[in-house]
Amino acid sequence: MLVSATEMLKKAKEGHYAVGQFNINNLEWTKSILQTAQELNSPVILGVSEGAGKYMTGFNTVSAMVKAMDADLGITVPVALHLDHGTYDGCYKCIKAGFTSIMFDGSHYPIEENIAKTKELVAVAHQLGLSIEAEVGSIGGEEDGVVGMGECADPDECKLIADLGVDMLAAGIGNIHGKYPENWAGLSFETLDAIQQKTGVMPLVLHGGTGIPEDMIKKAISLGVAKINVNTECQLYFQEATRKYIEAGKDLEGKGFDPRKLLAPGAAAIKEIVKIKMDLFGSVGKA
Ligand code: 13P
Repeated sequence: MLVSATEMLKKAKEGHYAVGQFNINNLEWTKSILQTAQELNSPVILGVSEGAGKYMTGFNTVSAMVKAMDADLGITVPVALHLDHGTYDGCYKCIKAGFTSIMFDGSHYPIEENIAKTKELVAVAHQLGLSIEAEVGSIGGEEDGVVGMGECADPDECKLIADLGVDMLAAGIGNIHGKYPENWAGLSFETLDAIQQKTGVMPLVLHGGTGIPEDMIKKAISLGVAKINVNTECQLYFQEATRKYIEAGKDLEGKGFDPRKLLAPGAAAIKEIVKIKMDLFGSVGKA
């Protein structure tokens, strides 16, 4: 059931658990995530980066595919189709294409410009019943060619953006997209605590969910994180399962070259990691 992310995140924040955002790349990814959410009776957010949207030929294709798949699979759990790290133009494209949720990432703009653009998009999104995420303080690592330094957000700036009426707020707390380096300092819970004290009931978003140790995830949830983004880990699970299949020579046996057979182990591996994350985030049974 396609919905905005507002209600599911409000419930998550109140219930002290987090909803997973899993980024999609194609049909297999989408199917595996939707089926797992349904099997576990968990709400879920499908994240689409602008790069992945382009890869899938455009946001209209993505929106049509997700809506049709949601219907054909008989998905009854709440599903939000969400633009990840959207540009100003990207947000408008996704609104037009029928997404149910957008993220406007204005973290690289001066704070005044971030506020002005976020404010405008909040009004447009809410008028149409979409939820909207904003970002303060860039997330480290590289995503779609944008490199952030993993800075910690200023809690006062977080409050300024939260007060614009966004439904969820991504704030840098030392998190990084992709694999964490050996010398990573860990999440700054001091920053997270200060942000939550300023922003109150606002569901906070933790980007860079791949590879964050379990105890840090649990602590982040206890300090107000209600949405956690995972992308790289699904890719790594898919890659490893696919590699095993090829290395075992299964593609050379019988009809093992059939794309439905070739992609099946990777798709099953995505289901496996999504289940692990939903268990850890506490969203199982919360649909
Ligand atoms: P990872 O790729 O590190 O899991 O981060 C995902 C993310 O934050 C998407 O916005």
